[in-house]
Amino acid sequence: YHEKSYNIKITKEPYAPDGFKRDIYLVNGQFPGPLIECNKGDVLVINVENCLNEDTTIHSHGIFQRDSPWYDGVPGQTQGGIPSNETFTYKFKVDQSGTYWYHSHSRAQYIEGLLGPLIVHDPQDPYLHEYDEEIIVILQDWYHTDSKTLLATFLTPESEGNEPDPDNGLINGKNSYNCSWAPNGSKCDSDAPLANFKLVYGKRYRFRIINTSAFATFIFSIDDHPLDVIEVEGMMTKRHTVHRLPINIAQRYSVIVKADKPKKKYWMRSEMESACFAAPATNLNPLIKAIVEYEGCDNKDPSSTAWSDDVENCVDLNVTDLKPYKPQNVPKVDRKIEITINFKPDENNVTMGYINNSTYKIDIKNPTLYKVYDDVKTFDTDQNAFILEKDCEVIDIILKNEDGGEHPFHLHGHVFWLLGIGVNGTTLDYDKLNTKDPIQRDVTTVPAKGWAVLRFVADNPGVWGFHCHIEWHVQSGLVAQFVELPDKIKKLNPPEDWKALKSKIKEY
Ligand code: C2O
Repeated sequence: YHEKSYNIKITKEPYAPDGFKRDIYLVNGQFPGPLIECNKGDVLVINVENCLNEDTTIHSHGIFQRDSPWYDGVPGQTQGGIPSNETFTYKFKVDQSGTYWYHSHSRAQYIEGLLGPLIVHDPQDPYLHEYDEEIIVILQDWYHTDSKTLLATFLTPESEGNEPDPDNGLINGKNSYNCSWAPNGSKCDSDAPLANFKLVYGKRYRFRIINTSAFATFIFSIDDHPLDVIEVEGMMTKRHTVHRLPINIAQRYSVIVKADKPKKKYWMRSEMESACFAAPATNLNPLIKAIVEYEGCDNKDPSSTAWSDDVENCVDLNVTDLKPYKPQNVPKVDRKIEITINFKPDENNVTMGYINNSTYKIDIKNPTLYKVYDDVKTFDTDQNAFILEKDCEVIDIILKNEDGGEHPFHLHGHVFWLLGIGVNGTTLDYDKLNTKDPIQRDVTTVPAKGWAVLRFVADNPGVWGFHCHIEWHVQSGLVAQFVELPDKIKKLNPPEDWKALKSKIKEY
């Protein structure tokens, strides 16, 4: 196999993505972290040097980790953290292609900068000849207070479950900020530059859009330029044109954009759907902008106007509009697992997230995958572990959301066929689900008081996280895990340095 290696060094340093200076995590001194890319079929090697004074992990979001479940990067589930001042190597074969990202899965490190894009190219990509260049666009919300402080306030009885609101949003790590909103004494420069994307007239671009937020879902658009969706989270789709593209946390889309409009500057817009927040902040400009600039145009600011197409708030792009590029062969279901989501006060009166009435408590000292090797067969109820023992069993997860907010749910180790999504008031009729030509993805929105049905084949031995990707909800316990094919896991040979991490685990 062809090996592709990266060295990444993780530090925490003062940085001002939007002009507001604070300490954030950097990867090789950069934010967002550097691009990691390889071809389908390659072995990807990521050497991590942890220069923090806390432990860390790297999770390659969306990568299946087939036969390498110990490299999925989830503390409490698949590994002990990489200790401070130590190195660890993730090495895995990538037999898939598409738009992914890597991020820390430790505490809330990713929302403070520990993330970057991960792209897997496919030499056989059916659209390869339909675009000339690729452009990566990372959307995210951004906070001016460190996550530890925010969490300490959030996880108290007084917060009543109101999540911390972002102060700003970024495109490729950039935006400006109205510094008169910043607290007295902060280091803030109101003239921070916006991201600028240069296009050449006549060229066709594949924009790979990734939402790496803690909390916010966005509607992405480029004035005057239609977006042809061709990929959703690794699955190629038939071309589907939209003007405004909703994208929830951890979701990814590829769109083809033609640079065939008058040579000038246009706005790229990433509209934060703050209407989905429990308590939208006042000092927040929810319209995040960047500049799309044709080469050889004048220097004036963009004067373009936004698309006005209606998009439903706090719900995914209508996935029934997206059709797989290749015909799907969706197997029949063998086992249905119902998962109910809700929020309620725990014994300390702190509002927590519940999966089938159990709030997840991370067992940092005893990650599940080590337990499997130690032959532990039952798990504490607060580990929200679902055990899948039959090889190739076809699983339906029926997600029922009793909460009044939407939740972007992510399954590790797999893509799932998204058989249907229902908003508040629609009943789930199993016979009406789409088993003919559903798309596959790894994150779906479960609408407020709604439902979603996800089908996957249990054929990948490992411990796979299943959680809401809103970081505040990860911290409030909206997390489960699938212990998949434990007998097969035990036949795999985990590396020594991974085993060694177990003895180095420190409590948070
Ligand atoms: Cu983006 Cu549990 O992962």
